[in-house]
Formats: sequence, structure tokens, C-alpha cells
Amino acid sequence: MIDVEGVSKKYANHTVLDDISFSVSEGEIFSILGPNGAGKSTAVKIMSACLPFTEGRINIAGYDVKNSPTDVKKYISVVGQSVALDENMSARENLEFFSRLMGMKKSSALLLIDQQLDRFGIRDVENKAVKNCSGGMKRRLDLAVALLTVPKVLFLDEPTTGLDPASRRDIWDIIRDLKQKNTTVILTTQYLEEADQLADNVILIDEGKIKAQGHPESLKQQFGQLSCGIQPVVFSDIYKIYKILSRYGHSVIDEEGACVNMLLDNGIKAFIEIIKQIDQADIKIADIKLFRPSLDDVFHAITQNVVHKQSNDNVFVDTESHCYDLEQGYSTRKYLEKGRL
Ligand SMILES: Nc1ncnc2c1ncn2[C@@H]1O[C@H](COP(=O)(O)OP(=O)(O)OP(=O)(O)O)[C@@H](O)[C@H]1O
Ligand SMILES: [Mg+2]
Repeated sequence: MIDVEGVSKKYANHTVLDDISFSVSEGEIFSILGPNGAGKSTAVKIMSACLPFTEGRINIAGYDVKNSPTDVKKYISVVGQSVALDENMSARENLEFFSRLMGMKKSSALLLIDQQLDRFGIRDVENKAVKNCSGGMKRRLDLAVALLTVPKVLFLDEPTTGLDPASRRDIWDIIRDLKQKNTTVILTTQYLEEADQLADNVILIDEGKIKAQGHPESLKQQFGQLSCGIQPVVFSDIYKIYKILSRYGHSVIDEEGACVNMLLDNGIKAFIEIIKQIDQADIKIADIKLFRPSLDDVFHAITQNVVHKQSNDNVFVDTESHCYDLEQGYSTRKYLEKGRL
């Protein structure tokens, strides 16, 4: 449905997008991730024929974006990062205005507007001027306008930013429903959980370049690492566990000295071996935790060059110096020096 080939965008000497290529299949939810200023909105504007690009080729629904922008615009709908509504008109008036702009007959438009007011939960504010509506309501109305028709491709630039968790989940349901209707969705988001929940494929861009691309699960396997935490029943057994874990890689004792954490370089196989060894050493275990990498870990690993980050957000492991860096934490060596073990 979408083919992007070698696309670059430059502003004077500033390269905002640098040789970007990817493809999106029909009915796919495709997420563009990246830190502030990475080029996500620029990519959306370029693909939706709202902004010219410097180099490359984009094809949407069989039409070349550069040569046939009018044809492309027949198949797409865009919800930009900032709300595009008439602030002085009410929600209903905005829906009426845009439906007429799309060429709908007044009678069929009125029926559809009623459906949209209910579907997007904006019935309560239908007669309120948009400028007096909350940010969340404006976002919902923006989506209701964009979805007055069912587009072949929908671009959503951070559609859930600033929404409360319930509203965010409502939008997720709408996006999933669009997928059922075979709409292709391009979604940029700051919420990695959102991409994890919804996206069939993601690209991670940073400083205008694609740094990673694939299915969220395969990215987690590629860039994230499984880790474990093991807590003994008897406090003094902590060092015995630390010694066993250290045979398999770098392990660290947590702030309270109650649990040993470790990144599993060899995945689940190493974990099974560790448990066997602890059992053979007759050490009683109070708790075992296995942490799966999150998309958040992938994002940090790629954009901030953090070597490894555990999913419980407590421990940054630096494999070089073999210590963990918590605000008031101690390295394993410091623990030993302080006679805490
Ligand atoms: N009209 C413009 N002229 C010059 N530079 C621009 C222009 N528009 C955007 N940029 C620059 O392009 C880069 C990418 O901006 P863009 O808005 O695409 O980032 P983004 O990934 O959407 O960020 P955010 O997460 O903050 O929305 C930024 O460095 C921005 O300053
Ligand atoms: Mg943006």
C-alpha cells in the first residue's frame, strides 16, 4: 500500500530525514517511533503530500506522491500532531463543515454526524465551541472529522498524546476497528506501549535515520535482553547466589542486598542451568523474577546507547565496569567493602 524509497528531506543544510526506505502492506498498523525532533511529523507530512521532499520516491495506493498528490489525497486521511479544527465553531458545526467540504449530501451527513458524536464520545460537547473544550475532547473531535469517511490510509501523528488512559484505550479500539476494515494506519507515538499493543511493524528513527525496523517482538529479541532476579529465603545466601550467577555473566545485588539481578546473555537456557545449580547447592529461594525486554528497552538501547537496561526500571547495567548505577545505589564492590555481605 505504501512504498517509501530513499527519501530525504533537507532544510537548507539541515538534513531532517536521511535516506529513509520502508514498505507498509494494506491493512497494516505501522508505527513510527523516535525521540523529539527525530523527524516523525516530517515523515507524516511528506507521505501525506503536505510537504515537498528533497530526494527519493513515495508511492501510496499506486500513486506517486510527488507527481500525483491530488490522487493520493483521495485515499488518505490525516490527523496531525496539532488539532486542525475551527476553534470558534462547535463540535457539531465542525463535523457539518468538514462533511460538506467532502461533498456529502446534507441529509446523509446529518445521519453520519450523529453516529460520529456517539462513536467518539463527544455527544456532551456537540454544541460547545471547540475553544472551550478540553484537549482530549478536541483530539476525539479531530479523529471524528478525519474518519467521516473510511480512508484507505490513515495518518495519525501522536493521536493519544495528552489523553487520559481510558480515552487512550478508546482510541486504540478505534484503530483496531480500522484495521478490521482494512485501513492502513501510520501511527507516530511517544508511548512505546501503544506501538507494542497495536503495531504490526515499527521503525525507530533518530536524527533522521532509520535505526531499527521490524515487528515489536523481533526488535525486543534483537535489541533487548531477558534478565532475572533471584531472592534467597536466608539473607546470608545472597552471596552464594551471586557466585553462581556470576559464572553465567555479570550479576549485581540490589540496593537492599536482598536479590541478585542478572542479564541472561544466553536467554532461557542459562536461566534453567542457574536454577538447577541453586537447587543442587540446596539454597532455598524466596522469589524468582524473569523480566522480558520491553520496547522501551529497545528504544533506550538504540537512542541513548545504554548498554542494557532491566525492564523493572531499577537497574542500569554497565557491562564494562560491572556496577549498577542507581541514584543512591552501590556497586557490588562497594557492598563488599562495606561488609554488607
Ligand atoms: N519548517 C522547518 N524548518 C526547519 N526545520 C524544521 C522545520 N520543520 C521541522 N524542522 C526540524 O526538523 C526536525 C524534525 O522535526 P519533526 O517535527 O519531524 O520531529 P518529530 O519527530 O515529529 O518531533 P516531536 O516528537 O517533537 O513531535 C527538527 O529538528 C525540527 O526542528
Ligand atoms: Mg512530531
